[in-house]
Amino acid sequence: MTVKTENYPDSATAHGLSGPAEAFPIAPDDATRRRLQAWQAEYGDLFQVPAVNGGPAHWIVNDPALAQQVLVRQAAKYTKGMGLDRVKILLGNGIMVSEGDFWARQRRMLQTAFRPRSLADFNTMIFDENAALAARWQQAANDGRAVEAEADTSELSLGIVLKSIFGADYARLVEHGHNPFALLTEQPERNLRFAARFHRLKKVVDEIIDTRLAAGAPHEFDFLGHLLATRGRDDQPMSRTAIIDEVMTLIVAGHETTASALAFAWHLIATHPSVAARMQAETDGVDEATLRTTGGTDRQTLAYTDRVVAETLRLYPPGWLLSRRATVDHELGGRPIAAGTQVFICPYLLHRHPQYWQQPERFDPDRFERADEPRHRLAYLPYAAGPRHCIGEHMAATEMRVHLATMLRHFTPIWQGEGTPAIESAINLRPANGIYLQLAPR
Ligand code: HEM
Repeated sequence: MTVKTENYPDSATAHGLSGPAEAFPIAPDDATRRRLQAWQAEYGDLFQVPAVNGGPAHWIVNDPALAQQVLVRQAAKYTKGMGLDRVKILLGNGIMVSEGDFWARQRRMLQTAFRPRSLADFNTMIFDENAALAARWQQAANDGRAVEAEADTSELSLGIVLKSIFGADYARLVEHGHNPFALLTEQPERNLRFAARFHRLKKVVDEIIDTRLAAGAPHEFDFLGHLLATRGRDDQPMSRTAIIDEVMTLIVAGHETTASALAFAWHLIATHPSVAARMQAETDGVDEATLRTTGGTDRQTLAYTDRVVAETLRLYPPGWLLSRRATVDHELGGRPIAAGTQVFICPYLLHRHPQYWQQPERFDPDRFERADEPRHRLAYLPYAAGPRHCIGEHMAATEMRVHLATMLRHFTPIWQGEGTPAIESAINLRPANGIYLQLAPR
């Protein structure tokens, strides 16, 4: 196979990289996930795939040391890649997709809002949202009805992210009985039709900002208040457009990821009764009032629950395909890589790599207790790594811990399906057909 690039006229020979001969449209979809898995078995941890529209072949990296080069050590030589193109349509220039000095400025300004100290203000809200869901699940259990965990965790995480952004203004958002942002849970496709409807929501955010500015700052901490108040090193505030883009980014990035992870967690817990029993014993030992105020952040108290979450994210990482583009000619793994090359790192495959994990297909939360797992730090990437790692990791961890600990105090889940759930690999990995649970009250 010959791949022509300006700087590396015969890059296949120069790289000595193997890979399929046919071009393939690598994208966040099921066909890509299946192909990458098959190609990894055939070509190993670094291979190339010819690009459909010409240009340098794509590099697929399934080696943790090389992933570390791309994401951490040589991160300055990469931008986000073509896998984020669909996301860009939604998120304008929010920090998920922005680059360079603009991204660095925005990230600095947002970062302070994500300090555990600031996020602690959300603990009671997160607990109360879960308590409300527990009441609905109790009703379903009383009626002998199954619940669909993905729909419920999706609604839950959307409510939490919206309340963390809009605080007291959330009530006004839903005062006419309909939450305009519900389309995020109601319409699973992330196509152009969705993008058009999603963009109309920017107007809703714009109006909330107008109302808030007219009323003065609220007393409670919330992300919108932070975005309005924060200043860059030049002492200048964020523009209105930037604030709206960041709000939309937080809604999208913070909602579906957490919801999918929780849905998969429910499947794993329900199909592993001994895990459920250990989690229940753990949460029974935690004082509810303390959980409400601390979010269980004292990791000793809900340490096993945290390991179950970590193991769920290993088997089903919502961000299953990371995408980067080399911006300069340089070397990766001792081979020349040309500017413009698209590089893909697949946490789904890294998390199941037999060289770094013992019995990788096995659900085993205690593996995170073992000193030799994973065998390379970057073999575990649910929140990515380096400067573009997930800003919401701590918040997501609290949300998931509090959700599982709260629900398991009241119910034992029984899965209503067989085998492993079908997976849909879109921008996020999610269960394809829902996760149906029968709930046995305790
Ligand atoms: C289980 C839950 C979550 C998972 C698995 C997750 C995963 C990720 C991953 C893998 C990335 C890197 C994407 C890339 O490099 O292309 C990322 C970035 C990001 N995440 Fe999360 N995330 C979660 C929850 C959240 C939450 C709750 C928020 C905010 C409320 C959030 C906000 C963001 C933002 C803003 C970025 C972009 C950061 C940047 O590029 O500077 N995430 N997340």
